[in-house]
Amino acid sequence: MPKDDKAGKKSSKTVIGIDIGGTGIKGGIVDLKSGQLIGDRFRIDTPRPATPEAVAEVLAQVVAELDSRPQAPGKDVPVGIDFPAIISHGVARSAANVDPSWIGTDVDKLFTERIGRKVHVLNDADAAGLAEVRYGAGKGVDGVVLVITLGTGIGSAFIMDGKLVPNAELGHLEIDGFDAESKASASARERDGIDWEEYSVRLQRYFSHVEFLFSPELFIVGGGISKRSEDFLPALKLQTPIVTAKLRNNAGIVGAALQVAISDKIIK
Ligand code: BGC
Repeated sequence: MPKDDKAGKKSSKTVIGIDIGGTGIKGGIVDLKSGQLIGDRFRIDTPRPATPEAVAEVLAQVVAELDSRPQAPGKDVPVGIDFPAIISHGVARSAANVDPSWIGTDVDKLFTERIGRKVHVLNDADAAGLAEVRYGAGKGVDGVVLVITLGTGIGSAFIMDGKLVPNAELGHLEIDGFDAESKASASARERDGIDWEEYSVRLQRYFSHVEFLFSPELFIVGGGISKRSEDFLPALKLQTPIVTAKLRNNAGIVGAALQVAISDKIIK
């Protein structure tokens, strides 16, 4: 339990973070100092079809569970939420791997109205990237850090001196005539039934191209597949150091909480 200060307020800063994915909607109470979850994370399957209304309903259930815990921040504290699409001024602008009905939806407004409290919504890879640079594998690294998540799609976060340049969408670079994520995502490897060696060749092509375009200081690889990094990372020949994400499963939750805390000036 956070200690109380003299005014009786909780002295550690906590925020609820929610990660909306294709298979699950996961949330947790995030300690902003350490970037760790306080208590367990809570997950409900993503509804099918994952329409805006259906997702908002499950989101409300996840928030209600977290709110019922003694460690929950006050209800005046906004909630950070990530979503796997371009999010510009709170509005979804793409739907590569989500229901097409999201395009043009004011996600910020929908969720605010559904849970009756201020929210801030951002792209899922942006959230994971922010968390990695603040608390994980990119901590203390200046200059351009690119966080690339390999999952159903390819997500990317472009971070410069610790600040996020949102909605980079480097998973959709066109390489050799293909949308990059259609060849180099984790789901493309499974779909095509290729072994790690062949997959590493695709990743080499992808990362070499991104390296050439942006000359980053560091690549961080996230997504579920980063658990198997020994099967592909050693094969990659790049000038840029490339490491696996540290926060793993919780990066989206932590990053969503961090972003809302920054925009609401709870922390810098
Ligand atoms: C989407 C991105 C998302 C990524 C990972 C891509 O297909 O375009 O917005 O960050 O998948 O979920």
